[in-house]
Formats: sequence, C-alpha cells, structure tokens
Amino acid sequence: MMELAYTTDLGVFAQGLAEEVLESPFAEPFRGKVNLLFTSPPFPLNRKKKYGNRQGQDYIDWLAAFAPIFGKFLTPDGSIVIEVGNSWEAGQPVMSTLALRALLAFLDEGNFHLCQQFVWYNPAKLPSPAQWVNVERIRVKDAYTHLWWMSTTARPKADNRNVLQEYSESMKQLLKTKKYNAGSRPSEHHIGAESFFTDNKGAIPPNVISVANTSAGTRYLKYCRENDLKPHPARMPIEVAEFFIKFLTEPGDLILDPFAGSNTTGAAAEALGRKWIAIEPQEDYIKGSKGRFPPIFLSNGD
Ligand SMILES: C[S@@+](CC[C@H](N)C(=O)[O-])C[C@H]1O[C@@H](n2cnc3c(N)ncnc32)[C@H](O)[C@@H]1O
Repeated sequence: MMELAYTTDLGVFAQGLAEEVLESPFAEPFRGKVNLLFTSPPFPLNRKKKYGNRQGQDYIDWLAAFAPIFGKFLTPDGSIVIEVGNSWEAGQPVMSTLALRALLAFLDEGNFHLCQQFVWYNPAKLPSPAQWVNVERIRVKDAYTHLWWMSTTARPKADNRNVLQEYSESMKQLLKTKKYNAGSRPSEHHIGAESFFTDNKGAIPPNVISVANTSAGTRYLKYCRENDLKPHPARMPIEVAEFFIKFLTEPGDLILDPFAGSNTTGAAAEALGRKWIAIEPQEDYIKGSKGRFPPIFLSNGD
C-alpha cells in the first residue's frame, strides 16, 4: 500500500514501506535516475522501539535484502550512503558487531564498492550505555555512528571542492606570510613548502563529520509543538545530510531516502536545489516533516 503524502517544488513524500513503494508503479520512472540514496535505516537495537527495529540475523537479512532493490534506482555514477549506529549486547558491557555485519552483508548483496567509511561524531551525545558509562564507569561515551559510502562503480560522482572547510587560523596565517618550515615530518613525509602556499579556498575535510545533535528551536520542533505531534526520536542533524548531498551530487540531481523519518534528507535536498523522494510508513512522522518546509512549498498538505 502506498499513498502520496505531499509534494513540494522539488520533492515527493510517499507513505508506505520502502519494499512496497520501491516495487510499485509510482517508483518505476525513478529507476536508474537516483544520483544519491542517502538514508538511516531503523537501527538494530536490543530493545524494541516504536519504529520497529529488528534484531540479530533477522536485521542483517532484512537490510541486505534492500541492496539489489536500491541498486536498481542508482544512475551509473550514483552513490548510496547508509548510516547505522552502534549497538550493545543486552545486559553486558560488550559491543555488538551487528551494525558492521549488516553493512557488510548489504555491500556484498548489492555487489557494491565501499568508496569510503565515514563516522558522524556527535559531541553533544549524552553518556551511554548508561550502566557501563555513568554507573560502573567501565566504558566511555559511545558518540559516533557509521556512514558507509557505497556505489556500483569505483568512481562515482564526487567532488570534495564542494565541501571545503574554513582554513584554521594557523593555515590562514601561513597563506598570508608564506613562511613555513619545510622538510621531513616525523612520519618521514617530505613537505614541500610550495604546496602549502597555494590557497585552495578551504581545507579538505576528513571522514569524521563532527556535528552536535542539538536541534532545540528549529522550525521542525516548533511545528511539532504547535500541531501536537511527537518529534521523531532518531532525527539526524541536517548538516550531515547536507555534507553528502553537496559532496556527491549537483543541483538538479535526484536524492532518495527510503527510510525518511522526519525527512531531514528531503529538507536538505530542497534547500540545496536537488530533487528528492522520501518514503516513510508512519503517518505522525510524515505530518511532522511538513514543518520543515514553508507552507507555500507544500501541496497535498493541510
Ligand atoms: C532512523 S529513522 C530515520 C530518521 C531520519 N533520518 C530523520 O532524520 O528523521 C528510520 C525510519 O525508518 C522508518 N521505517 C521502518 N521500517 C521501514 C520500512 N520498511 N520502510 C520505510 N521506512 C521504514 C521508521 O518509521 C523510521 O522513521
């Protein structure tokens, strides 16, 4: 069962299960057209949450079964980026390898290349798992999630010049003074001074994306409050979606999020001039996600 929930200038939100929507006539025209599939599937947890988390081998099989389906939607140089958090064994101070095994199974099943692994580090993450971190003090905070960038070709569309970061103060100084102590580093890399004097308009970012997940005061939360809707409990900060959209797509490209939740991906895509498709079964989350767009953008909305 699938229903069109709402559309915007650039996007469409379909209500339903990804496995059904993606096999329906609605999705047919988008096959081979998606430049970036960016998503956070329900995480594997050791306790059930509202949005239906699976456990163990069941989770691995469930996620891996999506790989060939997702693959059919990609352009030849398209990318898939999947975010999965860590999970812990129930009742023990021991991490589960489930997230990594699920990602590996997905990679194998889709016959994808692993272009690069990223982590999203959340400096504002509350200490967890509480028993081992706060009470017994035998583990440290678990504060990152895995983002695996995958594709069918080893050279998908990507340009790190679209995600340059502001230079550090010392680098700005260096570019100004052009004085640098060239020579060998402890790593035995030889640093030629010339390469350091070129202003490349910003620093190439690392594969650790550091964004605090503190969204208090956003338009989305205000909208949920005003409309008596429960905010999505596993929202991602919009900056993480923006990073991959800028890095891996161009304006006018098409982005798909098959587990869209509160539609962080669609909102980031719309703001960056990309087209988007979102899929989510839970009506409350879809209703709340409308708050991410100015009402004038929405049709089928109320
Ligand atoms: C981790 S959340 C995504 C959060 C999202 N990135 C955001 O920022 O709001 C995963 C979402 O997948 C949805 N979901 C679970 N099973 C699904 C399925 N079979 N098809 C589509 N969505 C599903 C859940 O309802 C949940 O909202």
